[in-house]
Amino acid sequence: MQKSLFEPLSFASGQTMKNRFFLAPMTNTQSHDDGCLSQEEYHWLTLRAKGGFGMTMTCASHVQANGQGFPGQLGIFDDKHLEGHLRLVSGIQAHQSLAVIQLHHAGIRSPKELIKGSPVGPSAHIKTGARAMTTKEVIELREAFVEAAIRAKKCGYNGVEIHGAHGYILAQFLSAEYNQRNDEYGGSMTNRFRIIIEIIDGIRHQCGAEFMIGLRLSPERYGIQLEEIKEFCLQLDAQKKVDFLDISLWDVFKMPEDASYASQSLLEHFSKLALFNTPWTVAGKIYSGRVAQKVIDAGVDFVCIGQAAILHQDFPLQVQQNPQFEASKLPVSATYLKEQGLSPKFIKYMRRWPNFVSD
Ligand SMILES: Cc1cc2nc3c(=O)[nH]c(=O)nc-3n(C[C@H](O)[C@H](O)[C@H](O)COP(=O)(O)O)c2cc1C
Repeated sequence: MQKSLFEPLSFASGQTMKNRFFLAPMTNTQSHDDGCLSQEEYHWLTLRAKGGFGMTMTCASHVQANGQGFPGQLGIFDDKHLEGHLRLVSGIQAHQSLAVIQLHHAGIRSPKELIKGSPVGPSAHIKTGARAMTTKEVIELREAFVEAAIRAKKCGYNGVEIHGAHGYILAQFLSAEYNQRNDEYGGSMTNRFRIIIEIIDGIRHQCGAEFMIGLRLSPERYGIQLEEIKEFCLQLDAQKKVDFLDISLWDVFKMPEDASYASQSLLEHFSKLALFNTPWTVAGKIYSGRVAQKVIDAGVDFVCIGQAAILHQDFPLQVQQNPQFEASKLPVSATYLKEQGLSPKFIKYMRRWPNFVSD
């Protein structure tokens, strides 16, 4: 029987998503310089919750000041951020959407001018001028993720997604290319993946079984090995560590870049893993109801929608009315994006994306 995009989905924590549409985490540069929520960011996200997304994820939100990756990034590293998050959570949940925050640290990818100092990472990195963290700093990083999750829980978020993808700090730890440490956080796969396991365990211990924990991973680039990521997903599944896995593909039908894995698509690599306990999602160019349906028919539990949600604040409702619904063709005008609830700052940021804004 064909799975429905409008069937609810329950997670191990007991939280239920009313449908299979998840708003992708999307940096939008609309927050205040100190990381506090702005009205523009509130407006953009609550409109998506109103537009039918069963789960509304914030942008990547930094857990330490020295992990900021973008100007106007939403923060969760200090109690001064609590008030904004409290307001955001109730605005999202008012539309029966789960409110989840993505926890992030950019590591060696933090721009020097933003963090006013040298970036840090698992190992020194000449091109970015990053220095290697001491073991004590690695522990502090782990605790910063856990403390951010505690703040998120205090504000009423249904859960967090740990950003372990796209070459940011946790992906830097996973990568044998970026991580050349010789303490217990470097070397073997167990050691390189240790920090993520410790963050998950710390959050679970502090926030309890009813708090959702998701993990975003990329299967390639930045020295990430597809086979290691698949193996890690199997381990997390067997140990029931997380509520969901979010595999970031950039194109759900993409073939692996490494020719030795190219006998099947990335989606097939993961759909054949048979994750029995862990719901999972994928992101990448899901622009229509037809493709969203195809993705869940391939065994994925829910769909992660990025650019189509920028183009249509109510993408899920549109697909509900018309299963053949297709997102507007790119590029679109700034006026169009304003009508979809983007502020001038976000529109300016979208001009950096190829062929997105026409004027
Ligand atoms: C404007 C923009 C900002 C993004 N910011 C983030 C982010 O903060 N965290 C993250 O994990 N991915 C981020 N992504 C990636 C998206 O979450 C998503 O995986 C990607 O865009 C592919 O989905 P799509 O083709 O539906 O847009 C961003 C993408 C876009 C377009």
